Amino acid sequence: MKVAFLASEVIPYAKTGGLADVAGALPRFLAGLGADVKVFLPLYRAVRTKGLVLEPVIEAASLEMGGRSLDYAVHAHRADRVTVLFIDRPEFFDRDGLYGTAAGDYPDNGERFAFFSRAALETMRALDFSPDIIHGHDWQSALAFAYLRHVYGGDPFFARARTLFTIHNLAYQGLFEQEVLARVGLPPALFNMNDLEYFGQVNALKAGILYADAVTTVSPRYSREIQTPEFGCGLDGLLRSRAGVLHGILNGVDYRDWDPATDRHIPRNFTPADLSGKKVCREMLGLEFGLAAPEDRPVVGMVTRLAGQKGLDIVCEALDDLMGLGLTLIILGTGEQKIQDFLLAARKKHSDRFGLKIAFDERIAHTIYAGSDIFLIPSRYEPCGLTQMYAMKYGTIPVVRATGGLEDSVQEYDPRAGEGNGFKFLEAEAGPLVEATARALAVFKKPGSWRKLVGLSLIHI
Ligand code: ADP
Ligand code: GLC
Repeated sequence: MKVAFLASEVIPYAKTGGLADVAGALPRFLAGLGADVKVFLPLYRAVRTKGLVLEPVIEAASLEMGGRSLDYAVHAHRADRVTVLFIDRPEFFDRDGLYGTAAGDYPDNGERFAFFSRAALETMRALDFSPDIIHGHDWQSALAFAYLRHVYGGDPFFARARTLFTIHNLAYQGLFEQEVLARVGLPPALFNMNDLEYFGQVNALKAGILYADAVTTVSPRYSREIQTPEFGCGLDGLLRSRAGVLHGILNGVDYRDWDPATDRHIPRNFTPADLSGKKVCREMLGLEFGLAAPEDRPVVGMVTRLAGQKGLDIVCEALDDLMGLGLTLIILGTGEQKIQDFLLAARKKHSDRFGLKIAFDERIAHTIYAGSDIFLIPSRYEPCGLTQMYAMKYGTIPVVRATGGLEDSVQEYDPRAGEGNGFKFLEAEAGPLVEATARALAVFKKPGSWRKLVGLSLIHI
């Protein structure tokens, strides 16, 4: 079976969040099952500067888009039985960020990702790779389904292809002005509410939801949530109308990248049978952040985008009360300026027990999963969430808000029944967050019970 996989970020090439992890892992597993998988990814500057050996596959091609002829090249990299095909057009992709800079999104993102999607389809044809399945992810790949329906409709090369679109986060929709349709070579008539129009703008995500044969999202609960006005981001009606082909499938993770027994990023490896290396990781984590980490004081870690979605505002509000519980808090994250400012000020106030790094750093992230006792994820919404799964694999107990994939993957610990793998709270408020953390701390204070819970969380994954 031939599978074409379109994603705007893929590990180990380019990453801003969980999409990259999934778009890296899923093709490897599909290839392991015998599928012939080709992954399409823009050739960002971040990839260019990695020093990978890229094989030229198409040296010079061009496509017509909105009256312009756009040149590009295609390079390949093969790893784990998966071929990644990089769409190379420096004007669009040789830039500092994937989607924008601190100042905001790139204004031509509509053109950039429409071009990426279109060039991916053209490359399939040029390489005579006629896919059985075309699997696109998030708004950046969604316009591929508009091209397939409205530009390539009836083209025998794609006639066999069945199409699948996965929503990783409904809040990011790719909204552009009406004129973008003509500029990217899509029929201007698609600007109507039954196609791509959405409150006076063009909505790229709609193309995936409307025109793909099947739509998935990344947890069963999120698939139900997005059909309600509260979580539907204005698309709940459309999603309800597609309920027959909409499925929620919990993300998997790749334990070849995330296993404390083999992880090369962490100071000392460990296994469920022998957690002594975790103690070393804990001490080194303290050193990394310039904090003492006495054994009787729990280390609570966070690795997160500093964005409203992730409930950082609730953490900010709860911070003094959390610190009042007598824990050490460690946060690694990048994102919104006002959250950064608040946390930087709070660190001054609690400098002996609050460690903070404003950075995107793979090694430190792994060290936090390995060296913390508890992992905090207070998301306002969470399509799936991978960090709770990584934490559990490293014997680190999650405290999460009961939403989306967090609700599906974490069960409240019941000490009497000896069941569960973490702690949950429902209301997105400081009080319930502090209470759930306090419940975790109460178990932490009884070493026998804590060992049992860590064992349960390790078995669960
Ligand atoms: P989302 O994609 O919504 O940000 P996920 O839980 O699905 O959330 O995935 C987040 C991924 O990004 C994880 O692999 C996590 O380790 C990583 N990550 C997030 N912030 C950072 C950071 N500051 N440094 C390193 N890795 C990070
Ligand atoms: C998105 C979601 C996150 C999910 C990830 C991978 O970034 O915010 O919840 O885990 O995609 O599917």
